[in-house]
Amino acid sequence: MKPINIKEKYTKFNKQWHPHQIALVDDMQVILAKISGEFVWHSHKDEDELFYVQKGTLYMRFRTSTELSINSNDGYKEWSETVQEGEIIVVPKGVEHCPTTKEGEEVHLLLFEKQNTAHTGEVQHEKTQTEYPKI
Ligand code: NI
Repeated sequence: MKPINIKEKYTKFNKQWHPHQIALVDDMQVILAKISGEFVWHSHKDEDELFYVQKGTLYMRFRTSTELSINSNDGYKEWSETVQEGEIIVVPKGVEHCPTTKEGEEVHLLLFEKQNTAHTGEVQHEKTQTEYPKI
């Protein structure tokens, strides 16, 4: 039951795209991440994800597929939301998303999500992490 200094927690890791857990709230977790560049398209079937931008600008890309996309990329409707420092965005369950930053900019995020939320949903990628260190 001690206060958690978020700025200080960010100094405890440097690896990008590797979430670190700073608190638990029932079955939810609060995690921090440093990101730069483009992540991996994925979705979470049963979990919403909240992203709170602590530093920099996040471009949250979304896409939904239509019948046409089964055989080509033509059927994807893709758009991006710009999330400024101090703003949050909630990604609803089931919606494909890809967090992105400006080239060369490191963005600091706080995420609030269920503890069992898989990092990249059902997608396996070299960026996929299965363990989030507690700091
Ligand atoms: Ni996600």
